[in-house]
Amino acid sequence: MTASHDRPSRSLLSVDELGTDGILRVLELADHMAEVNRRSNPKVPALRGKTVCSVFFEDSTRTRLSFETAAKRLSADTMTFSVSQSSLNKGESLRDTIDTISAMGVDAFVIRHASSGTPWQVDQWTTASVVNAGDGWHSHPTQGLLDAYTVRTSLGRTDRLDGLRIAIVGDIKHSRVARSTSAAFRLLGADVTLVAPRTLLPPVVEEPVTEDLDGVIEDLDVLYLLRMQNERMNEALVPSLREYTSRFGLTPERAARLAPQTLVMHPGPINRGVEIAVDPAELPGAVITQQVTNGIAVRMAVLFDLLGSGEPSTEGISR
Ligand code: CP
Repeated sequence: MTASHDRPSRSLLSVDELGTDGILRVLELADHMAEVNRRSNPKVPALRGKTVCSVFFEDSTRTRLSFETAAKRLSADTMTFSVSQSSLNKGESLRDTIDTISAMGVDAFVIRHASSGTPWQVDQWTTASVVNAGDGWHSHPTQGLLDAYTVRTSLGRTDRLDGLRIAIVGDIKHSRVARSTSAAFRLLGADVTLVAPRTLLPPVVEEPVTEDLDGVIEDLDVLYLLRMQNERMNEALVPSLREYTSRFGLTPERAARLAPQTLVMHPGPINRGVEIAVDPAELPGAVITQQVTNGIAVRMAVLFDLLGSGEPSTEGISR
C-alpha cells in the first residue's frame, strides 16, 4: 500500500512545535515502523536516495545509534560527524561546519549540542531538515515521542493518553527529557505531576509539583524516573545521593507499594542505586528496555515524517 500523510514542518525541534496532532501523526507512523522492525529483514526503501547526517557534540548511546539504525532501515545513506576528528579542532566555526556538510548534499541533520537553542540556529543556516537530538537542558523531542509511544503501546491505547496519572520524578531542573516528555504526555491529555526537591525544579513549571513521592506512588499509571544529571550540576543541590534515594528513589519498599500494572520508565542511562535501587528486571511494570526498542520505530517515523514526501518510495510500509 502507499503511505500518505499531511506535510509536516521541515524540522523537528521541540514537542510543543509538533503539537498534539503532530504527535499523534508520528505515533501512528511509528506503529507502521514497528511492524517493519518485526520482520526478518527489517528494511524498506522509503528514504532511498536521502542522506542523514548525525552531528553529536555530546555523548550518546541510545539516541545516536537508534537514529543511525532508523535511517538505515529506511534505506537512507548515513554520515556520522565526529567532533573530535573534525576541523572544528582547527578553529572552524559551527556555521562553517554546517555549511560544509550541507554542500555535500545532506537531507537531514540530527544534532545534539550542550547549548540550548543550537538546533534552532542550525535550522536557520541550512535548507536540510534538522532534528533536535537534545540541546542542553532544553529539549529532547524524540525522547518525548518514544516515551509517549511506549506508554500508548504498553497500555494498549490507540489514541491519546487522557486520564492517565503520571509522575515524573527527580532532577527536573537539568533535564531536557523532563521538558519534552512532560510536554508530550500533557499534549496527549495525561495528568502529569512533577516530584522533586525544590532545588531540582526550574523556576517555572506547568505541572503540579510535590516533594512527597510516597503520597502519590500507589495511584500511578506511570512512574517515570529521571537520571540525576551530575554532569550539569556545579553545586550540591541535594544533601547526598543517599538522602536523595531515600526520598525520591525507587527503593525496594516503594517498589512493593507500586500497583503491578504501573509502568516504570527511565530514559537511561540509569545511575543504579540512585534513581532506581532495585533490579528493574524484577519490576512487573518496567518498560525501560521497550523504551530503547521503541526509539528505533519512533525515529524511523520522525525521519519518514520529515523526508518521506511520497518520493522516492514508500514501498514496503503498510498503511
Ligand atoms: N536517553 C538518551 O538520550 O540517551 P543517550 O544519551 O544514550 O542518547
